Parts: sequence; C-alpha cells; structure tokens
Amino acid sequence: MIVLTPLFLFLSSCVSGTFVVNVTQTSYQAEENQNITLEGTFSSRTDTSLRSIYIYCELSTESRPYVLFHLYKGDELPESQDPQFAGRVQWDKDVLPEGRLTFHVSRLRTNDSGFYVCDILVRPDGSNYRRCWLNVTAAKELEPQRPSESPHAESLRGLWLIVGVSAALLILFFVTIACIVLLRANRRTHNAAIQMESSSEKQTIRTNMSPSESEHEVRLSNI
Ligand SMILES: *[C@@H]1O[C@H](CO)[C@@H](O)[C@H](O)[C@H]1NC(C)=O
Ligand SMILES: *[C@@H]1O[C@H](CO)[C@@H](O)[C@H](O)[C@H]1NC(C)=O
Ligand SMILES: *[C@@H]1O[C@H](CO)[C@@H](O)[C@H](O)[C@H]1NC(C)=O
Ligand SMILES: *[C@@H]1O[C@H](CO)[C@@H](O)[C@H](O)[C@H]1NC(C)=O
Repeated sequence: MIVLTPLFLFLSSCVSGTFVVNVTQTSYQAEENQNITLEGTFSSRTDTSLRSIYIYCELSTESRPYVLFHLYKGDELPESQDPQFAGRVQWDKDVLPEGRLTFHVSRLRTNDSGFYVCDILVRPDGSNYRRCWLNVTAAKELEPQRPSESPHAESLRGLWLIVGVSAALLILFFVTIACIVLLRANRRTHNAAIQMESSSEKQTIRTNMSPSESEHEVRLSNI
C-alpha cells in the first residue's frame, strides 16, 4: 500500500530512526467541491533550512498512486505532480523549516479519496513517513427548491397571476361569445340552405313524377 520512491528507500537506509513525522489527523472527511487542509509535523531544529528538506507526498488508490507534492532541496517540482492535482494544491513554505507541513487542497473531488502518504527527509537528521486517510463524499443533490423570494416579489408575483388569470378569463369569455354568434349565424344560413334545397328537391321530384303520382302527391299534401 505504501509506495516509497527509490530515492527515499536509498536515503532512509542511510539515516537513523530518531526522526519523527506526525499527522495532525489520521482521517479526514470532506464533501465534493470543498477545500481541505491536511497537516503534519516533523522533527526540526532551530537551524533547519528549507534547502535541507525533501518531501514526497502521494495519494495511494487501488488503481495507482497520484503524486500530490514533490519538494527537492526545498524547491517544489511541479512537473512531478499528477494532473489530478494541478492547480489545486497550495503549501505553506514559511512554516516548513519549523517542521510544519500544510497542504490546502481545493475543489475536492470524490476521486481524491484514499490514503495520502508523505515521506519527509531532513538532512542530516533523518527521514520518516506518515499517512492519513481522506474520504470525499459526493455533494448532496441540490433540492429542487425555489430561491427564497422577498415578500414584495411574492406579492408582485401574485398580482401578475391575478392579472394573467383575469386576462385569460376575459379572452375565454369573448371567444365563447364569438363562437356562439358564429354558430348561430352558421345554423341560420345552414337552415336556409336546407330549406332551399328541400324545396328545389320537391320540385325535381314533382317534375320527375308521372302526372298521376303528382296528383296523388298534391292530394296528400292537401290533406
Ligand atoms: C509527534 O507526536 C508525539 C506524540 O503526540 C509527540 O510527543 C511529538 O513531540 C510529536 N513530534 C513532532 C515532530 O510533531
Ligand atoms: C477554496 O479554495 C479556492 C482556491 O484556493 C478559493 O477560491 C475558494 O474561495 C475556496 N472555497 C472555500 C469555500 O473556502
Ligand atoms: C477524477 O475525476 C476528474 C473529474 O471529476 C477526472 O478529470 C480525473 O481524471 C479523475 N481522476 C481519476 C484518478 O480518476
Ligand atoms: C466515507 O464517508 C461516508 C459518509 O460519512 C461513509 O458512508 C463511507 O462509508 C466512508 N467511506 C469510507 C471508505 O470510509
């Protein structure tokens, strides 16, 4: 699980084991898009210089390690950093010689979760490593709630609602009236057409009928 770079394996074997590295917290819990500060301390002397410090930190996941931070002789090597962390890691240079290692990791992602292992070497004091666990959970789904409105905005909305509904009702009223009027006019012309049609039909029937039939018909209609 713990991945030590060959450099540190080599250097570790050369120094004694009195060098101490502590982590402020062994476990961190955070939510996606939040920022977090990971902290640790290590043995230092008042005359410890930045140039005597070497640090190598990485996120150890099931798939592969991702380099979080690489400090060589007090200089950061950004090219070592994994693109996963590009632009998201800040460290405190000023407090490092005091033996305080501080990382600010911003805009956390769920896949930042895992073990963070830091190897620290201070020449000629020694080297050691510590690890901490970070668990980044997915941000809670934003509830589909309306942004809170001021009472004024709410009353204004109410007013618009009333105006809108009134307008709709008015339009509906006029459309209904127009429909009724049109329907009546339509029926009238339709009826007139039927009357005209039926009278012309009667005439054609009459002309088609034989004189006797015609007489019969006349009689019938006269009854
Ligand atoms: C590490 O932690 C131990 C126990 O809490 C403490 O005694 C020691 O001073 C710490 N060392 C550093 C370098 O932080
Ligand atoms: C997180 O860090 C980024 C960059 O450092 C910053 O712009 C942002 O305001 C921080 N957000 C919070 C909630 O602290
Ligand atoms: C983590 O997720 C980001 C997108 O949220 C993606 O760009 C990145 O490649 C992922 N990294 C890993 C190690 O899966
Ligand atoms: C991460 O945190 C969540 C929420 O607290 C928890 O349910 C989950 O078990 C944790 N995952 C691990 C691997 O610790």
